[in-house]
Amino acid sequence: MNRKYRKTIIAGNWKMNKTPSETKEFMTEFKSIMPKGRWCDVALCVPAVCIPMAVRCMRETRVGIGAENCNANASGAYTGEIAANMLVDAGCKYVIIGHSERRAMGETDADVNAKVHAALKAELMPIVCVGETLEQRDLGITEDWISMQVKCALHGVPEEKIRKIVVAYEPIWAIGTGKTATPEQAEEVCEHIRTVIRKLYGAKIARAISILYGGSMNEKNAFELLAQPDIDGGLIGGASLVPEKFVQIIEAANQPTV
Ligand code: PGA
Repeated sequence: MNRKYRKTIIAGNWKMNKTPSETKEFMTEFKSIMPKGRWCDVALCVPAVCIPMAVRCMRETRVGIGAENCNANASGAYTGEIAANMLVDAGCKYVIIGHSERRAMGETDADVNAKVHAALKAELMPIVCVGETLEQRDLGITEDWISMQVKCALHGVPEEKIRKIVVAYEPIWAIGTGKTATPEQAEEVCEHIRTVIRKLYGAKIARAISILYGGSMNEKNAFELLAQPDIDGGLIGGASLVPEKFVQIIEAANQPTV
């Protein structure tokens, strides 16, 4: 983390978990144990049907609610899809874009780029996910792959909008596997992402962009990961489903010593 130049963000990704009623239960408990620290931003990205309940429950707090996907189009004949401006109207502040689970369902780099533009236009903050497979890591092409994903996702994003973007590095081999990247491995790639952004947008912007790590981050390993200079927060799946665990991760991010 580097609080001087950029925001620390702890974001939960619930994936396809919890009903609206369970959302209410979670939020009630979460609110009662939530740390009052002012250093880090907290986001919870929830299933679309849980957004209204999450927004209602967290109205008086500083926790931002987010979606897990959006459609790239503004409106029209896209049965079952949700546009970015609908999410904003429902009270969302964030949207996850290009999660590897969605890429595995067929989302391309071009789709990710179109969704980034749609989110920015609607004034949603995109959390853009990138990450390599174990096979790519073993082949030694992690940095090339990540460069390509970042460049594609940011293609055509003007300088004045780039600060609204958050990038999340999520090695696919670490997601939901309990196999976290070591702090050194995670830092190496997050630093590389910042270098790619520096080459595209210059040093000042690169220094101001928050880059998150995701992949089996939990209450036990969060502190060490967040202590790395280029890891500005976490995108947390499994551990964000349990209020006490999520709170402990926020507390790790609020440590004054980091
Ligand atoms: P995990 O998921 O924390 O359960 O590994 C992270 C993510 O997919 O965003």
